[in-house]
Order: sequence, then structure tokens, then C-alpha cells
Amino acid sequence: MKINSVKLNNFRNYALAEIFFNDGLNFIVGKNAQGKTNLLESIYISSVGKSPKNSKDKQIIKFGESKAKIDINFLTNAGKKNIEIYLDKQNKKSIKINKLNVLKLTELVGCLSVVYFSPDELKLIKEVPEDRRTFLDISISQFDKNYLYNLIKYDKILRQRNAILKSLQSEQSKIEQLKLFTPQLIETAEKIILKRLEFIKNLAPIAADIHKQITLDETLEIEYSYKLKPGISINEDLTKISQNLLQKELELGYTCFGPHRDDLEFKINGLDCKSFSSQGQQRTVALVIKLSLMQVVYNEIGEYPVLLLDDVLSELDLPRQNRLLEFATKYQTLITCVNIPTTNLNYNKIEISNGSVV
Ligand SMILES: Nc1ncnc2c1ncn2[C@@H]1O[C@H](COP(=O)(O)OP(=O)(O)O)[C@@H](O)[C@H]1O
Ligand SMILES: [Mg+2]
Repeated sequence: MKINSVKLNNFRNYALAEIFFNDGLNFIVGKNAQGKTNLLESIYISSVGKSPKNSKDKQIIKFGESKAKIDINFLTNAGKKNIEIYLDKQNKKSIKINKLNVLKLTELVGCLSVVYFSPDELKLIKEVPEDRRTFLDISISQFDKNYLYNLIKYDKILRQRNAILKSLQSEQSKIEQLKLFTPQLIETAEKIILKRLEFIKNLAPIAADIHKQITLDETLEIEYSYKLKPGISINEDLTKISQNLLQKELELGYTCFGPHRDDLEFKINGLDCKSFSSQGQQRTVALVIKLSLMQVVYNEIGEYPVLLLDDVLSELDLPRQNRLLEFATKYQTLITCVNIPTTNLNYNKIEISNGSVV
């Protein structure tokens, strides 16, 4: 995939700007607080439909304005595409793909494929399991719409099942309803878990390989918390688990098993990264995961996503910086920095100052 241009109107600190990109390395340079991260944010929103910082639409619109627009032109294997996102303080955002209105956010996901990395992505290693599930869900949804539909379905059944568990504390009659929702939940849970296991099985060897190339002497392992058991399907296993947990669930009033509670584990040289690795090692792992995601998505859709790297260089030592940049030239990469590092590689320079291209 290749982004040709992004036009921003009242987006963050951009009043009106149009930015053009080349293939390969694009350095977005400028002093602090000029709009470099904001530019990458606008592209991420065009891909996933929401801000990587989880900002509300209202916060994204330029201070003092009531509407904002992102207009992005890009090229895929299927031809030229255009996405327009209209943000409005009063109304829900609206989206157009190739000038046609998009009714659901699910239609947008997967249209423009990007892989995003910023210092915040360290949360993938350091923070709560929910951050790792979000990583799995956003990554897989980029190339598998069914997975996204199953997630939405699962979430709906889960909320209904939790409501029943809660009401059972006073209304015993609802036990029949619970018997109805549990197999439905398990059926969707199985699909989600199978897909996540397959994704990790594809990602793990690629990540281990890239990690070795960048660190030279460390081994990286990635494991999903749910393990397949020989001779028993996930459905049968979860059914057993749910029977064992029922009493506890009735007391607590919510569902205690399923993919909404699963997690990922990263190990360096056999040790859990969250507890034992240095900040630098954790940052490298998070970056490696994103670089390997580029390859996994390529294997799935037949083209590389656009790589968005926010503020990564300042955090890496020189040899790691150089190896990262060599990776990045293989794709269209948009990389923000305060100073462009010395390099023999070809690149395009985009200088940003106070919400404008210099
Ligand atoms: N809704 C908004 N309207 C106008 N300016 C904003 C808005 N949100 C953030 N900003 C400004 O954008 C600037 C930060 O831009 P950012 O892209 O993060 O900078 P950097 O170039 O350092 O990456 C800050 O000065 C901030 O005040
Ligand atoms: Mg920034």
C-alpha cells in the first residue's frame, strides 16, 4: 500500500494542509509540538476509525472549530482509493470511501492497512492484558472481517450472559436463559481463540527472526494464554470450564472464562519480558512485534501495510537505529523525528512547523 497524500482541515493543530508522500522512507521532521504525531494520528484514524491515543472526536477537532476533515488518497493492489472522515462536535463522525457513504465502522477497517508504532506501544508489554487483546483484535481485523464480526457478536452475547448472571442472583427462573446463552458464547469464543492461536503461530517465528536480527543475541518467544489440549476441542474444553465455574459466576454475577480474559506472554531468553526485561529490551520487543506484523499482514493480503513510526529513533542506540531503517526502506514508512539521522539510504523529507508543511 502507498499513501499518496493526506489533506487535513481543522484537524488538531492543522488549519489546512496537504502532505504528499513517496515510496520507501519518509522522514517527518520538526521541533517538538509542531504536528508530527498529529499527522500520523490522522492516518491511523483513517485506517482503524479511532485515535491511537483513544482521544474523543471532539478533542481531535482544532481548538475553536466545530468540524474537521481528513482526506486521504492511497494506492492498493486493487487500485486508487480515497477515504474521507468528517468529524463534527455535534454529530457522530461520518466516513466516505471513494465518495460513497460508509454506514458502519466495520466497512472502514481493512481498507487502508497500517501498522503503527509509538513510544506508547510499550503498553503492549508493560500494561494490562486488555492492551494485548486490543493488539490482537485490531491486527487480525485488518485482514479478517469475519474475525471482527465474531468479536462484535461475542461482545453482545457476553453482555447478555453477564446480565443474566447478575439477575440470577434474585430471579432463579432465568437459569433456562443462561443455558441458552452459554453454548452460543462458547461457539463464538472458539472461533476467536482459534484465529488468535493461528495468528500467534504465524507471528511468533517471524518476530523471533526479526528480534534476533535486531538484537543479535536474544531469543524471543510469544505465547497465547489459552493452550489447545490434545483430544478435546476448544468447545468441549470451554463447556467443561464453564460447568466448573458456574457456581463462582453465579456468586460474582459475570462470565469468568473466554477470550475476553485471555492474554499474551512475551519471553526473552526464556524469561517473562514484563517482569524481567529492561525498558530498552521491552521497547525493542514491542517494535519487533510491529515489524513482524508487517510481514504477517503481507502474507494474508498480498501487500505490505504502510508503516507509521512515531518517535522511535531517539529511543534506540545507533546500530539498532540503522537496522530498523534498513527494514523500513522495504515498505512505505512514515517516520517522525526531530533530526534526521545520518544514513546512506534514500529518503523523502517532510518538514512540519506549527501545523504546516515547510
Ligand atoms: N484539538 C487541537 N487543536 C489544536 N491544537 C491541538 C489540538 N490537539 C493538540 N493540539 C496541539 O498539537 C500540538 C502537538 O502536536 P504533536 O503532533 O503531538 O507534536 P509533535 O510534532 O511533537 O509530534 C500541541 O502543541 C497541541 O497543543
Ligand atoms: Mg510527537
